[in-house]
Amino acid sequence: MKDIIEQLETRRANARLGGGERRTKAQHGRGKLTARERIDLLLDDGSFEEFDMFVEHRCVDFGMDKAEKIPGDGVVTGWGTVNGRTVFVFSKDFTVLGGSLSDTHAAKIVKVQEMALKVRAPIIGLFDAGGARIQEGVAALGGYGEVFLRNVRASGVIPQISVIMGPCAGGDVYSPAMTDFIFMVRDTSYMFVTGPEVVKTVTNETVTSEELGGAKVHSSKSSVADGAFDTDVDALLQVRRLIDFLPANCEDGVPEVPSFDDANRVDTSLDTLIPDNPNKPYDMRELITKVIDEADFFEIGTDFARNIITGFARLEGRSVGIVANQPMVLAGVLDSDASRKAARFVRFCDAFNIPIVTFVDVPGFLPGVAQEHGGIIKHGAKLLFAFSQATVPLVTVITRKAFGGAYVVMSSKHIGSDMNYAWPTAQIAVMGAKGAVEIIFRADTGDADAISERTREYEARFLSPFVAAERGYIDEVIQPHSTRRRITRALAMLRNKHVERPKRKHDNIPL
Ligand code: HXC
Repeated sequence: MKDIIEQLETRRANARLGGGERRTKAQHGRGKLTARERIDLLLDDGSFEEFDMFVEHRCVDFGMDKAEKIPGDGVVTGWGTVNGRTVFVFSKDFTVLGGSLSDTHAAKIVKVQEMALKVRAPIIGLFDAGGARIQEGVAALGGYGEVFLRNVRASGVIPQISVIMGPCAGGDVYSPAMTDFIFMVRDTSYMFVTGPEVVKTVTNETVTSEELGGAKVHSSKSSVADGAFDTDVDALLQVRRLIDFLPANCEDGVPEVPSFDDANRVDTSLDTLIPDNPNKPYDMRELITKVIDEADFFEIGTDFARNIITGFARLEGRSVGIVANQPMVLAGVLDSDASRKAARFVRFCDAFNIPIVTFVDVPGFLPGVAQEHGGIIKHGAKLLFAFSQATVPLVTVITRKAFGGAYVVMSSKHIGSDMNYAWPTAQIAVMGAKGAVEIIFRADTGDADAISERTREYEARFLSPFVAAERGYIDEVIQPHSTRRRITRALAMLRNKHVERPKRKHDNIPL
């Protein structure tokens, strides 16, 4: 009996070595942790329970039947806890055949995906791999298909998070692409469908892996990634932080943590946040952090479409999603990228019953040939669709500009928002004074006195929250310093909001 127990320990220890000391050293030499070290950092101490540690590949082609078989087959899977809450995890082991995906490797991922869906708990994938196991050919392709299918089946049911911590190419990119959030590690990770060599052959472009699909490109340009972190350790600790904000599944409701921040806290500095000059920017992040619990804000997509801010926060210890125009960047205008970024975030929050708080200071949609040719009609419609479709509690605060179509799109009362507040500094109008006067008083063009008189008239009548408040488009004009209290109370009132939509197979969001 003792021998058998010892044998098990030896087998386990052998499996835990992955691709062996030499390859582990090389992994560390590149500034990367191993698959198991990553899991240990991601999960609560000692909480990891591994599945399928002894699974081996069954390939017999290209000498694979004669080569040493490494137990685990290039991916470590299982479950554990993050601050006590169950999560499932798979972590690609680059030290075993470059983390490449074989038939059996795919089956291990599918098993953990199915378990996560059955148990209704989040799943986190850590990627560091060379794509399809080349020796396995079509069996690897089939394996990818099986993984993709489970990603889609789990979409909107459990949160799915991907962290790219090394190469992620070919078949490996599409599983993360169908999850809710992708994070990358700077300098050590890259993602592309085809690498620099194929690009050179096909299009004759010369690029490095970093230029083609590094963390900077994907977090600021392509928007494939929702964030980038400096090291493996930082990325994993931030994912733990994110998990704390998320419900376990679409039916569980938001997590509630003890809050030590008084819901009635007033902040008088907000009374002077808006500059006297309406063309002067201010930092919307300052408002967000002053309103939310303990200034704890987990931003999503920080470096992409910086004219809109999206992220998770808490009020009274309960998670909320924040969407806010950022006047510091492009005056907070809505363009195609900002619309797409916010639409995706709104849909995530709605799928997982996370209430949304929207802060509005938007001069309109961005005009221009590039925007029109780039499909701003369709991209803007995504955000309009997402807010209109949402059934979670929606609370909106207009701080300054809310002009034109952008006013309607940014969670206005007309498209289903529940409580809409405006600061006294709000300007809710079809457009700014200058543009309006130039059009409706064209006859006065050239008469500077008449134009400035008309501009004053327009400003006095329309550039305030009161025309909208008179119509009930705004529920109340509130004092900036009491914003936290007002939003928190509105969310408490809305806690049992329940909206039924007509039965349908699914909607047809403008993709
Ligand atoms: C089998 C692989 C492998 C793969 C790497 N290895 N990729 N084995 N299949 N796809 C093995 C190597 O043989 C090596 O084994 C070890 O992993 C480390 O690889 P290196 O090349 O030494 O590492 P590095 O220099 O860091 O380069 C990493 C890499 C490179 C950029 C990922 O390995 C690479 O380009 N691999 C092939 C990528 C690829 O073309 N994949 C197929 C994509 S097609 P030893 O024994 O020396 O440690 C695809 C289609 C699916 O995925 C589509 C589904 C929809």
